[in-house]
Amino acid sequence: MLHTIIGTDIAKAAELLLGGSLVAIPTETVYGLAAIATDAKAVTTIFEVKDRPFFDPLIVHCHNIEQVFQYTNGIPGWAEKLFQAFSPGPLTIVLPKKEVIPDIVTSGLDTVGIRIPSHPLALELLRMINKPLAAPSANPFGYVSPTTAQHVYDQLQGKIAYILDGGPCTIGVESTIVAEKNGVPTILRLGGISVEQIEAVLGNVAIEIHSTSNPAGPGMLESHYAPRKQVLLGYPKTFAPKTGFLAFKQYSELLPHSVQRVLSSSGDLNEAARSLFASLRELDALDLDTIYAELVPEEGLGRAINDKLRRASAK
Ligand code: TXA
Ligand code: MG
Repeated sequence: MLHTIIGTDIAKAAELLLGGSLVAIPTETVYGLAAIATDAKAVTTIFEVKDRPFFDPLIVHCHNIEQVFQYTNGIPGWAEKLFQAFSPGPLTIVLPKKEVIPDIVTSGLDTVGIRIPSHPLALELLRMINKPLAAPSANPFGYVSPTTAQHVYDQLQGKIAYILDGGPCTIGVESTIVAEKNGVPTILRLGGISVEQIEAVLGNVAIEIHSTSNPAGPGMLESHYAPRKQVLLGYPKTFAPKTGFLAFKQYSELLPHSVQRVLSSSGDLNEAARSLFASLRELDALDLDTIYAELVPEEGLGRAINDKLRRASAK
Protein backbone atom coordinates (compact mmCIF):
# COMPACT_ATOMS: atom_id res chain seq x y z
CA MET A 1 0.00 0.00 0.00
CA LEU A 2 1.28 3.43 -0.94
CA HIS A 3 0.30 6.61 0.82
CA THR A 4 -1.49 8.61 -1.89
CA ILE A 5 -1.05 12.38 -1.83
CA ILE A 6 -3.07 14.92 -3.84
CA GLY A 7 -1.06 18.07 -4.56
CA THR A 8 0.07 20.65 -7.07
CA ASP A 9 3.83 20.13 -6.81
CA ILE A 10 5.05 19.63 -10.39
CA ALA A 11 8.67 19.13 -9.32
CA LYS A 12 7.62 16.30 -7.02
CA ALA A 13 5.58 14.71 -9.80
CA ALA A 14 8.60 14.96 -12.12
CA GLU A 15 10.91 13.41 -9.55
CA LEU A 16 8.58 10.47 -8.95
CA LEU A 17 8.13 9.84 -12.68
CA LEU A 18 11.86 10.02 -13.39
CA GLY A 19 12.40 7.56 -10.53
CA GLY A 20 10.11 5.02 -12.23
CA SER A 21 6.90 5.66 -10.26
CA LEU A 22 3.42 6.35 -11.58
CA VAL A 23 1.74 9.75 -11.16
CA ALA A 24 -1.84 10.67 -12.00
CA ILE A 25 -1.84 13.84 -14.09
CA PRO A 26 -4.51 16.30 -15.14
CA THR A 27 -5.26 16.82 -18.81
CA GLU A 28 -8.03 18.84 -20.43
CA THR A 29 -9.90 15.63 -21.34
CA VAL A 30 -9.66 13.28 -18.35
CA TYR A 31 -7.00 12.51 -15.72
CA GLY A 32 -4.25 10.18 -16.93
CA LEU A 33 -2.19 7.57 -15.11
CA ALA A 34 1.31 8.42 -16.30
CA ALA A 35 4.71 6.77 -16.56
CA ILE A 36 7.76 7.74 -18.60
CA ALA A 37 6.94 6.21 -21.99
CA THR A 38 10.45 4.86 -22.58
CA ASP A 39 10.53 3.10 -19.18
CA ALA A 40 9.04 -0.33 -19.98
CA LYS A 41 9.06 -1.42 -16.35
CA ALA A 42 7.14 1.64 -15.14
CA VAL A 43 4.69 1.31 -18.04
CA THR A 44 4.02 -2.31 -17.03
CA THR A 45 2.83 -1.11 -13.62
CA ILE A 46 0.20 1.08 -15.34
CA PHE A 47 -1.44 -2.10 -16.65
CA GLU A 48 -1.24 -3.71 -13.20
CA VAL A 49 -2.69 -0.74 -11.32
CA LYS A 50 -5.55 -0.35 -13.84
CA ASP A 51 -6.09 -4.07 -14.24
CA ARG A 52 -5.89 -3.36 -17.94
CA PRO A 53 -5.31 -6.08 -20.54
CA PHE A 54 -1.91 -5.85 -22.24
CA PHE A 55 -3.48 -5.87 -25.71
CA ASP A 56 -4.84 -2.34 -25.15
CA PRO A 57 -2.24 0.20 -26.35
CA LEU A 58 -1.52 3.42 -24.44
CA ILE A 59 -1.48 7.02 -25.65
CA VAL A 60 1.85 8.85 -25.48
CA HIS A 61 1.86 12.53 -24.47
CA CYS A 62 4.39 15.03 -25.82
CA HIS A 63 4.83 18.74 -25.11
CA ASN A 64 5.32 19.95 -28.68
CA ILE A 65 5.52 18.84 -32.30
CA GLU A 66 9.34 18.65 -32.24
CA GLN A 67 9.09 16.03 -29.52
CA VAL A 68 6.50 14.15 -31.59
CA PHE A 69 9.05 14.04 -34.42
CA GLN A 70 11.63 12.55 -32.03
CA TYR A 71 9.47 9.52 -31.26
CA THR A 72 7.69 8.86 -34.58
CA ASN A 73 8.57 8.26 -38.22
CA GLY A 74 7.07 10.07 -41.18
CA ILE A 75 4.14 12.24 -40.14
CA PRO A 76 1.77 12.36 -43.15
CA GLY A 77 0.49 15.72 -44.42
CA TRP A 78 -3.04 15.23 -43.08
CA ALA A 79 -1.66 14.53 -39.60
CA GLU A 80 0.48 17.63 -39.65
CA LYS A 81 -2.58 19.67 -40.62
CA LEU A 82 -4.56 18.22 -37.72
CA PHE A 83 -1.73 18.82 -35.24
CA GLN A 84 -1.52 22.41 -36.46
CA ALA A 85 -5.24 22.96 -36.12
CA PHE A 86 -5.93 21.18 -32.81
CA SER A 87 -2.74 20.73 -30.79
CA PRO A 88 -2.20 21.26 -27.98
CA GLY A 89 -5.69 19.83 -27.46
CA PRO A 90 -7.93 16.74 -27.25
CA LEU A 91 -6.62 15.00 -30.36
CA THR A 92 -4.60 11.77 -30.65
CA ILE A 93 -2.97 10.75 -33.91
CA VAL A 94 -1.73 7.23 -34.59
CA LEU A 95 1.72 7.35 -36.24
CA PRO A 96 4.54 4.92 -37.07
CA LYS A 97 6.66 4.66 -33.92
CA LYS A 98 10.40 4.78 -33.42
CA GLU A 99 12.10 1.91 -31.64
CA VAL A 100 12.65 3.83 -28.39
CA ILE A 101 8.95 3.45 -27.65
CA PRO A 102 8.76 0.01 -26.01
CA ASP A 103 6.35 -2.66 -27.26
CA ILE A 104 4.48 -2.69 -23.95
CA VAL A 105 3.24 0.85 -24.72
CA THR A 106 1.81 -0.04 -28.11
CA SER A 107 0.78 -3.65 -27.41
CA GLY A 108 3.33 -4.72 -30.00
CA LEU A 109 1.91 -2.50 -32.75
CA ASP A 110 4.41 -0.60 -34.88
CA THR A 111 2.30 2.53 -34.47
CA VAL A 112 1.83 4.79 -31.46
CA GLY A 113 -1.06 7.09 -30.52
CA ILE A 114 0.42 10.52 -29.78
CA ARG A 115 -1.15 13.60 -28.34
CA ILE A 116 -0.10 17.05 -27.08
CA PRO A 117 -2.40 17.87 -24.15
CA SER A 118 -3.36 21.49 -23.57
CA HIS A 119 -3.64 21.44 -19.77
CA PRO A 120 -1.03 23.92 -18.46
CA LEU A 121 0.15 21.66 -15.62
CA ALA A 122 0.54 18.69 -17.96
CA LEU A 123 2.50 20.79 -20.42
CA GLU A 124 4.74 22.21 -17.72
CA LEU A 125 5.42 18.73 -16.34
CA LEU A 126 6.20 17.37 -19.82
CA ARG A 127 8.59 20.23 -20.46
CA MET A 128 10.28 19.73 -17.10
CA ILE A 129 10.96 16.01 -17.60
CA ASN A 130 11.63 16.43 -21.34
CA LYS A 131 10.45 12.87 -21.96
CA PRO A 132 7.10 11.67 -23.28
CA LEU A 133 4.53 10.22 -20.87
CA ALA A 134 2.45 7.14 -21.57
CA ALA A 135 -0.91 7.66 -19.91
CA PRO A 136 -4.29 5.95 -20.18
CA SER A 137 -7.24 7.36 -18.28
CA ALA A 138 -6.64 6.99 -14.52
CA ASN A 139 -9.52 4.63 -13.75
CA PRO A 140 -9.81 0.89 -13.22
CA PHE A 141 -10.24 -0.78 -16.61
CA GLY A 142 -13.78 -0.48 -18.00
CA TYR A 143 -15.01 2.07 -15.43
CA VAL A 144 -15.99 5.73 -15.96
CA SER A 145 -12.97 8.00 -16.58
CA PRO A 146 -11.93 10.50 -13.86
CA THR A 147 -12.38 14.23 -14.41
CA THR A 148 -11.19 15.44 -10.98
CA ALA A 149 -8.25 14.55 -8.70
CA GLN A 150 -10.78 13.26 -6.16
CA HIS A 151 -12.22 10.80 -8.72
CA VAL A 152 -8.72 9.38 -9.16
CA TYR A 153 -8.20 9.22 -5.40
CA ASP A 154 -11.52 7.43 -4.86
CA GLN A 155 -10.40 4.54 -7.04
CA LEU A 156 -6.62 4.39 -7.02
CA GLN A 157 -5.90 5.42 -3.44
CA GLY A 158 -3.13 3.20 -2.01
CA LYS A 159 -1.97 2.17 -5.49
CA ILE A 160 -0.13 5.33 -6.58
CA ALA A 161 2.04 7.81 -4.69
CA TYR A 162 0.92 11.12 -6.16
CA ILE A 163 -2.03 12.76 -7.89
CA LEU A 164 -1.20 16.09 -9.51
CA ASP A 165 -4.30 18.23 -9.02
CA GLY A 166 -5.12 20.45 -11.99
CA GLY A 167 -8.77 21.07 -11.14
CA PRO A 168 -11.78 19.70 -13.02
CA CYS A 169 -11.11 18.76 -16.66
CA THR A 170 -12.40 21.39 -19.07
CA ILE A 171 -13.30 19.04 -21.96
CA GLY A 172 -14.49 16.03 -19.96
CA VAL A 173 -14.38 13.32 -22.63
CA GLU A 174 -11.27 11.61 -24.01
CA SER A 175 -9.32 12.75 -27.03
CA THR A 176 -10.51 12.03 -30.55
CA ILE A 177 -8.27 9.38 -32.14
CA VAL A 178 -7.39 9.55 -35.84
CA ALA A 179 -5.31 6.99 -37.76
CA GLU A 180 -4.51 6.34 -41.41
CA LYS A 181 -6.35 3.31 -42.77
CA ASN A 182 -5.89 2.25 -46.38
CA GLY A 183 -4.36 5.66 -47.02
CA VAL A 184 -7.38 7.50 -45.61
CA PRO A 185 -7.48 9.52 -42.35
CA THR A 186 -9.95 7.61 -40.19
CA ILE A 187 -11.53 8.52 -36.86
CA LEU A 188 -11.17 5.55 -34.49
CA ARG A 189 -12.62 7.13 -31.35
CA LEU A 190 -15.07 10.02 -30.99
CA GLY A 191 -13.84 12.55 -28.44
CA GLY A 192 -13.05 16.14 -27.58
CA ILE A 193 -12.52 17.34 -31.18
CA SER A 194 -15.74 16.86 -33.12
CA VAL A 195 -16.09 15.16 -36.50
CA GLU A 196 -17.27 18.52 -37.87
CA GLN A 197 -14.07 20.21 -36.67
CA ILE A 198 -11.88 17.56 -38.28
CA GLU A 199 -13.80 17.64 -41.55
CA ALA A 200 -13.49 21.44 -41.63
CA VAL A 201 -9.72 20.90 -41.93
CA LEU A 202 -9.45 17.69 -43.99
CA GLY A 203 -12.77 17.44 -45.83
CA ASN A 204 -14.63 14.15 -45.50
CA VAL A 205 -12.89 11.53 -43.38
CA ALA A 206 -13.68 7.91 -42.69
CA ILE A 207 -15.18 6.97 -39.36
CA GLU A 208 -14.59 3.50 -37.99
CA ILE A 209 -15.79 3.29 -34.44
CA HIS A 210 -15.44 -0.28 -33.31
CA SER A 211 -18.18 -1.62 -31.14
CA THR A 212 -17.85 -5.34 -30.57
CA SER A 213 -15.47 -7.78 -32.18
CA ASN A 214 -11.96 -6.91 -33.25
CA PRO A 215 -11.57 -3.64 -31.39
CA ALA A 216 -8.42 -1.68 -32.15
CA GLY A 217 -8.44 -1.24 -28.38
CA PRO A 218 -10.90 -1.70 -25.54
CA GLY A 219 -11.57 2.05 -25.45
CA MET A 220 -13.62 0.84 -28.39
CA LEU A 221 -15.07 -2.24 -26.73
CA GLU A 222 -18.83 -2.20 -26.71
CA SER A 223 -19.00 -2.25 -22.91
CA HIS A 224 -16.84 0.50 -21.47
CA TYR A 225 -17.10 3.71 -19.46
CA ALA A 226 -19.58 1.76 -17.38
CA PRO A 227 -20.87 2.60 -13.90
CA ARG A 228 -21.45 -0.35 -11.57
CA LYS A 229 -25.22 0.11 -11.90
CA GLN A 230 -27.30 -0.92 -14.84
CA VAL A 231 -27.56 1.88 -17.41
CA LEU A 232 -30.58 2.04 -19.74
CA LEU A 233 -30.98 4.52 -22.56
CA GLY A 234 -33.99 6.75 -23.10
CA TYR A 235 -36.62 8.77 -21.32
CA PRO A 236 -39.20 6.32 -19.94
CA LYS A 237 -42.87 7.16 -19.31
CA THR A 238 -42.63 5.65 -15.83
CA PHE A 239 -39.65 4.92 -13.63
CA ALA A 240 -39.34 1.77 -11.51
CA PRO A 241 -38.37 2.28 -7.84
CA LYS A 242 -34.65 2.89 -7.23
CA THR A 243 -34.13 4.38 -10.65
CA GLY A 244 -32.09 7.52 -11.35
CA PHE A 245 -32.08 9.72 -14.43
CA LEU A 246 -29.28 11.40 -16.34
CA ALA A 247 -31.02 14.16 -18.29
CA PHE A 248 -29.66 16.34 -21.06
CA LYS A 249 -31.41 19.68 -20.37
CA GLN A 250 -34.28 19.16 -17.98
CA TYR A 251 -35.21 17.19 -14.89
CA SER A 252 -37.97 14.64 -15.28
CA GLU A 253 -41.06 15.56 -13.27
CA LEU A 254 -41.53 11.88 -12.41
CA LEU A 255 -38.58 11.58 -10.02
CA PRO A 256 -37.12 13.60 -7.14
CA HIS A 257 -34.31 15.88 -8.29
CA SER A 258 -31.95 14.19 -5.82
CA VAL A 259 -31.75 11.07 -8.01
CA GLN A 260 -31.25 13.06 -11.22
CA ARG A 261 -28.44 14.99 -12.86
CA VAL A 262 -28.82 17.49 -15.71
CA LEU A 263 -25.88 17.66 -18.12
CA SER A 264 -26.54 21.20 -19.38
CA SER A 265 -29.68 23.19 -18.65
CA SER A 266 -28.89 25.47 -21.61
CA GLY A 267 -28.42 22.50 -23.94
CA ASP A 268 -24.73 23.26 -24.49
CA LEU A 269 -23.02 20.05 -25.68
CA ASN A 270 -19.57 21.20 -24.49
CA GLU A 271 -20.93 21.76 -21.00
CA ALA A 272 -22.70 18.40 -21.21
CA ALA A 273 -19.41 16.66 -22.09
CA ARG A 274 -17.72 18.39 -19.17
CA SER A 275 -20.33 17.13 -16.67
CA LEU A 276 -20.92 13.65 -18.16
CA PHE A 277 -18.49 11.45 -16.19
CA ALA A 278 -18.89 13.28 -12.86
CA SER A 279 -22.69 12.99 -13.16
CA LEU A 280 -22.47 9.26 -13.91
CA ARG A 281 -20.23 8.78 -10.87
CA GLU A 282 -22.61 10.73 -8.63
CA LEU A 283 -25.60 8.67 -9.72
CA ASP A 284 -23.55 5.49 -9.38
CA ALA A 285 -22.86 6.39 -5.73
CA LEU A 286 -26.58 6.68 -4.84
CA ASP A 287 -28.76 3.87 -3.55
CA LEU A 288 -30.21 3.00 -6.96
CA ASP A 289 -30.50 -0.14 -9.08
CA THR A 290 -30.78 1.48 -12.48
CA ILE A 291 -29.77 4.70 -14.19
CA TYR A 292 -31.73 5.91 -17.19
CA ALA A 293 -29.67 8.12 -19.50
CA GLU A 294 -31.16 10.33 -22.17
CA LEU A 295 -29.24 10.55 -25.45
CA VAL A 296 -28.22 14.04 -26.62
CA PRO A 297 -28.31 15.55 -30.15
CA GLU A 298 -25.97 13.65 -32.48
CA GLU A 299 -23.77 16.62 -33.41
CA GLY A 300 -20.55 18.25 -32.17
CA LEU A 301 -19.46 16.66 -28.89
CA GLY A 302 -22.90 15.06 -28.70
CA ARG A 303 -21.63 12.19 -30.85
CA ALA A 304 -18.88 11.40 -28.33
CA ILE A 305 -21.32 11.72 -25.41
CA ASN A 306 -23.80 9.33 -27.04
CA ASP A 307 -21.02 6.89 -27.88
CA LYS A 308 -19.96 6.78 -24.20
CA LEU A 309 -23.58 6.41 -23.03
CA ARG A 310 -24.20 3.54 -25.46
CA ARG A 311 -21.09 1.75 -24.21
CA ALA A 312 -22.05 2.40 -20.57
CA SER A 313 -25.39 0.74 -21.26
CA ALA A 314 -23.94 -2.26 -23.08
CA LYS A 315 -23.06 -4.22 -19.95
O1 TXA B 1 -7.90 11.96 -23.68
C1 TXA B 1 -7.22 10.94 -23.70
O2 TXA B 1 -6.84 10.43 -24.76
C2 TXA B 1 -6.82 10.35 -22.34
C3 TXA B 1 -5.88 11.30 -21.64
C4 TXA B 1 -5.31 10.72 -20.37
O3 TXA B 1 -4.87 11.73 -22.52
N1 TXA B 1 -6.23 9.05 -22.52
C5 TXA B 1 -6.95 7.97 -22.90
O4 TXA B 1 -6.25 6.79 -22.91
O5 TXA B 1 -8.11 8.02 -23.16
P1 TXA B 1 -6.95 5.35 -22.94
O6 TXA B 1 -5.89 4.40 -22.55
O7 TXA B 1 -8.13 5.34 -22.08
O8 TXA B 1 -7.28 5.10 -24.42
C6 TXA B 1 -6.27 4.66 -25.29
C7 TXA B 1 -6.87 4.13 -26.55
C8 TXA B 1 -6.75 2.64 -26.69
O9 TXA B 1 -7.79 1.97 -26.04
C9 TXA B 1 -6.81 2.46 -28.19
O10 TXA B 1 -8.16 2.42 -28.52
C10 TXA B 1 -6.21 3.75 -28.74
O11 TXA B 1 -6.12 4.65 -27.66
N2 TXA B 1 -4.84 3.55 -29.25
C11 TXA B 1 -3.68 3.77 -28.63
N3 TXA B 1 -2.64 3.46 -29.41
C12 TXA B 1 -3.15 3.03 -30.57
C13 TXA B 1 -2.60 2.55 -31.79
N4 TXA B 1 -1.28 2.43 -31.97
N5 TXA B 1 -3.46 2.19 -32.77
C14 TXA B 1 -4.80 2.28 -32.59
N6 TXA B 1 -5.39 2.73 -31.46
C15 TXA B 1 -4.58 3.09 -30.47
MG1 MG C 1 -9.82 4.87 -20.81
